[in-house]
Amino acid sequence: MESRSSDSSFFHQHNMLMEMQQSLRIALDHTQRQSNSHHQNHPESSTMGRKFFVGGNWKCNGTTEQVKKIVETLNAVEVPSSDVVEVVVSPPYVFLPLVKSLLRPDFQVAAQNCWVKNGGAFTGEVSLAKMSNSSVLGVVTIAKMSNSSVLGHSERRLLLNESNEFVGDKVAYALSKGLKVIACVGETLEQREAGSTMDVVAEQTKAIADRISDWNNVVIAYEPVWAIGTGKVATPAQAQEVHSELRKWLAAKTSNEVAETMRIIYGGSVNGANCKELAGQPDVDGFLVGGASLKPEFIDIINAATVKSA
Ligand code: PGA
Repeated sequence: MESRSSDSSFFHQHNMLMEMQQSLRIALDHTQRQSNSHHQNHPESSTMGRKFFVGGNWKCNGTTEQVKKIVETLNAVEVPSSDVVEVVVSPPYVFLPLVKSLLRPDFQVAAQNCWVKNGGAFTGEVSLAKMSNSSVLGVVTIAKMSNSSVLGHSERRLLLNESNEFVGDKVAYALSKGLKVIACVGETLEQREAGSTMDVVAEQTKAIADRISDWNNVVIAYEPVWAIGTGKVATPAQAQEVHSELRKWLAAKTSNEVAETMRIIYGGSVNGANCKELAGQPDVDGFLVGGASLKPEFIDIINAATVKSA
């Protein structure tokens, strides 16, 4: 599985990336000029105002030196501005302060999990108090270490037996403390083959909907388990189908406004080669990227945002 075995690729390709950047810069200048003029004519040009979102889930990868190199590379690239794409990287806990202190300010940092209560006798867990301070600006906590968290990732649901209810509790708790949440849902291969994809995804989302009423700081990541780390990406049509069904479910169970404004991002073997076609789907609002977020192609994936703004 790529994301678990590809530690070295990013770092070996670091120099190559520097060369790529020059040509990318020229292409981007052109794209941004086009995008700017487009925006002037059509201020509401993004899909229902849903800003493209790209998350890099580094999972349990990287040494201090490797992490510094990734950050150094990300800091040097030119990508569309933060009003076109929201970029969030999610390093392992131990690297959160390092990444937060070194990463460019237009990119955000997310934890990969968080505990469901305040601190206390919970061996091995990390409380939100350790991740953020309490200074609140509007609804968003100004975080010391991170300003969002990935919750409900299938690796935690399946390997650590996190139930829908437990994930729902975590989402509600994190939001109540001012964090933004990337909430992951998705079916296994068996569930897809049994025709229950939408039931599974709806059930997982319902456990969150039962516990929260304000969805403003939530992004939903649809991540079919069979596509994660397998190189077997969902086809654009498969992704679009679930995203669109999920949006209909949100309209029925929450409100039209939540459904229309919710960023539903896709995750599962997204790479530099498949990202543009996926991004072209009307209900795909970005990506959660595992293995490829450790490689130079993560830049290409961020740039897929231009598909929406073109
Ligand atoms: P992958 O992982 O891109 O390596 O398939 C995606 C994820 O788990 O978020």
